[in-house]
Amino acid sequence: MKIDAVTIFPEYFAPLKLSLLGKASESGIVDFHIHDLRHFASNNHHSVDDTPYGGGAGMVMLPQIWGLALDPIMVDDTDLIILTPAGKRFDQAMAAKFSTARHLIFACGRYEGIDDRVRQYYSSELFVGRNIRVHEVSIGDYVLSGGEVASLVMIEAITRLLPGVLGNPESLNEESHNHDGYLEYPNFTKPSIWRNIAVPEILLSGNHAEITKWRNEQAQRRAEKNL
Ligand code: ADE
Repeated sequence: MKIDAVTIFPEYFAPLKLSLLGKASESGIVDFHIHDLRHFASNNHHSVDDTPYGGGAGMVMLPQIWGLALDPIMVDDTDLIILTPAGKRFDQAMAAKFSTARHLIFACGRYEGIDDRVRQYYSSELFVGRNIRVHEVSIGDYVLSGGEVASLVMIEAITRLLPGVLGNPESLNEESHNHDGYLEYPNFTKPSIWRNIAVPEILLSGNHAEITKWRNEQAQRRAEKNL
């Protein structure tokens, strides 16, 4: 999978070199490219934003600079993800869908967002032949200062679903969201007593049928508590 991210803060993406994401990148499972939007700003101050038409607070990111940044990477069969708190809520099902994509572009807006014509242009008929899908996505009902952190959240959730990224693919099967939406059961390791708190007896019993039953009950209880 190829992943491009366009941002005015490329440094935000340093964590892509760490841990599982770093390994996925080294082994060629994911091919990350981070683009500095300011490289496409030709004015003296390299400004990327201006005041909104119609008035109001804040600044809006300039469409022409986004166009220059996106055109060269907008190849056939691309999902363009525009991060905005007004977008569709990201969840595990969306992560699973994007994990089957060939090419993702994360457009990280700052300020009051990106001029809406960027979304309109790449969603338009001009691009139908090139098979471009545009998605406005939010990672939750709160406002971040920009889309960079939101992109990282999405990239981690999506890429760990790619074959070969997790050390033990079994963990994917065991995950809560693959179990009818139940959250996962609580886990314990050695020692069996820590600060006077004992691991539940059943887990030491070796009775796998009973352990599975107990875990399912615990997972369900947790899910109900979080409703
Ligand atoms: N940009 C600002 N807030 C955001 C959010 N909650 N999700 C995605 N992008 C954002």
